This record gives sequence, structure tokens and C-alpha cells, in this order.
Amino acid sequence: MNKNILLTGFMGTGKTTISHELHRMARMEEIDLDAYIVEKTGCSINEIFEKQGEQFFRNMETESLKEILNKTGLILSCGGGTVLRTENVDLMKQNGKIVLLTAEPQTIYERVKNNNERPLLNQNMSIEYIAEFLEKRKSAYFQAADIIIRTDGRNIADICQEILNKTGKAFGKI
Ligand code: S3P
Repeated sequence: MNKNILLTGFMGTGKTTISHELHRMARMEEIDLDAYIVEKTGCSINEIFEKQGEQFFRNMETESLKEILNKTGLILSCGGGTVLRTENVDLMKQNGKIVLLTAEPQTIYERVKNNNERPLLNQNMSIEYIAEFLEKRKSAYFQAADIIIRTDGRNIADICQEILNKTGKAFGKI
């Protein structure tokens, strides 16, 4: 049974934007994994990384994913690193279709350069760094994905329609 749409992809590939539009178009409930963790801990993502470290954040990601995926009919926007843990991917595969959003390093840079809420990019804001980082994660993203959607230069509504068409098969009808 595939009951949820699970959005993944590197930082800046458009997960949040696409999630909002999917919510509007399909009237499915929308949850953002990072926002859920911020609410659960009462700390920003930057504060969690600074004070508790990345491992703590990754454990919170897994714990939160388990809690959230008790529900169905969701659009869940995951963090850029969520699919790096096999345990998370297994959980996601059991509970929905994993939609990978992709974008070129240049596109990602343009989308994230003025934002300082991403601890893993804050000190390293450059196209070169993003390209290297993306390369290291590429195989994890592609292995986890059920559906792959390129976002560069594309209209948000078109991307969402494609996602709904492709995941619609899994739902029967959304
Ligand atoms: C991360 C991506 C972030 C957030 C955290 C770690 C990552 O989410 O979960 O800063 O490891 O790629 P977004 O992809 O929504 O920016």
C-alpha cells in the first residue's frame, strides 16, 4: 500500500515549494519533517546542530519519521539528508512513494544562497561546494527514489501535476 507522497532531494531542490503546491492541488495534508522537529524540540535546526550535534538531529529525524508515518494520505517533505539512513528509507518505502526532486548545483545555489538556516551550507555557500556535496549523496538519492523529477527551469504546477500523475497510480485515485 502506498499512501503517502514522500518528497526527497538535496537542499534547494524545491521540496517545500512543491509540497505547498501539491497540498493546494490535491488537498492532502502536508507535513514538513524539519518543521516537525523544530516544534518537537523547541529549537531551530541551526541550534540543534550547534548545541546537540548532527547525530542527535539524525536520531530526531528517524524518531519523527516513525511518528509521522503512523498517518496516511500525507505529503511529507523530508530533509535533504533523510534518505542517508537505510532505516529511514525502509520506513519510507513501506509507507509511500519516494519522489526525488533534482536540480543542478547552479540552480540550487541560486535558491539557497540568501538563506542561513542550513547548517551544512552556512560556512560553505558556493556552487563548487554544493556540486561536491551533491556528488557524495547522489547514489543514496537515486537508490531510494521511486520517481525522479528534474526541477530546473520548470513551472511548479507542471512539476506537481507530473508527481500526481505518477503517484496517482499507486493511490488508485487521489
Ligand atoms: C539537511 C537538509 C535540511 C535540514 C538539515 C540537514 C541535509 O533540510 O534537514 O539542515 O542534511 O541535507 P532541507 O533539505 O529542507 O534544506
